[in-house]
Amino acid sequence: MQKVINSMLVSTVGSKNNQSILFVHGFPFDSWMWNNQTEFLKKDYYCVTYDIRGLGESYVGDGQYTMEAFVEDLISVVRGLNLNKPVLCGLSMGGYISLRTIEKYQEYFSGLILLDTKSEADDDKGKLIRAAKINQVNTEGVEAFVNGFVPGLFAEETIKEKKKLYQQILLRCYQQSPIGVKGALIAMLSRTDTTKFLRKIKIPTLVLSGCEDKLTPPVSMRKMADKIKESEFGIAPRAGHLTPLENPAFINDMIAGFLKRRIKI
Ligand code: MLT
Repeated sequence: MQKVINSMLVSTVGSKNNQSILFVHGFPFDSWMWNNQTEFLKKDYYCVTYDIRGLGESYVGDGQYTMEAFVEDLISVVRGLNLNKPVLCGLSMGGYISLRTIEKYQEYFSGLILLDTKSEADDDKGKLIRAAKINQVNTEGVEAFVNGFVPGLFAEETIKEKKKLYQQILLRCYQQSPIGVKGALIAMLSRTDTTKFLRKIKIPTLVLSGCEDKLTPPVSMRKMADKIKESEFGIAPRAGHLTPLENPAFINDMIAGFLKRRIKI
């Protein structure tokens, strides 16, 4: 089912009577990135995905977004669907949003799944890289930005062996609004650091990383997982930064196992 909540396109599959999972996608993607997971999990869980403001089919507006606004958007989906203690699952930018959400609203959630993400904010070098990307969107357009950024997110093997999927993802990214893309870059550039909060996470947490993830490599994700008391950690083979798309079978099994073991319904 699809529904617009707070100007965002929200999709649900599965029975509302089941434990809910709220999926938050990465950048510059949209909720389509979770299709393999929601198809796999829908028989036992109520799976909710949404397009983050400015991306996919959600409202773009003026592009003046902040991480805090993304967090409040997420909470508006929880409230709009009356979700009772969902498990929150975020990838990369979706992980930044999820971590800050848990920092503010931990009591609303029963579990956390973090894929290919980090708690640290952008340092000065990172901020300058984001500024260069915004400039590239302004001067050359979204397609040039995507061609310069997105290929580096994949494992070499995915680009060689899953050409159709790779092309399909690039084409979806080309469709993104330049205003939405720049807005998300500004929100990420100005986000706070959630590292100190990691030790205060009390809900069961699964941390997953792609073995060839160059942006958030397994070694740094392992360090993050070590700071979370109730955490489990796993490394996805044959995957870079986009694990749910590059190795869906592994990610599905890890998520299903974690939910069965750790989330009390
Ligand atoms: C993402 O996959 O969401 C982005 O690569 C995150 C980032 O640029 O920091």
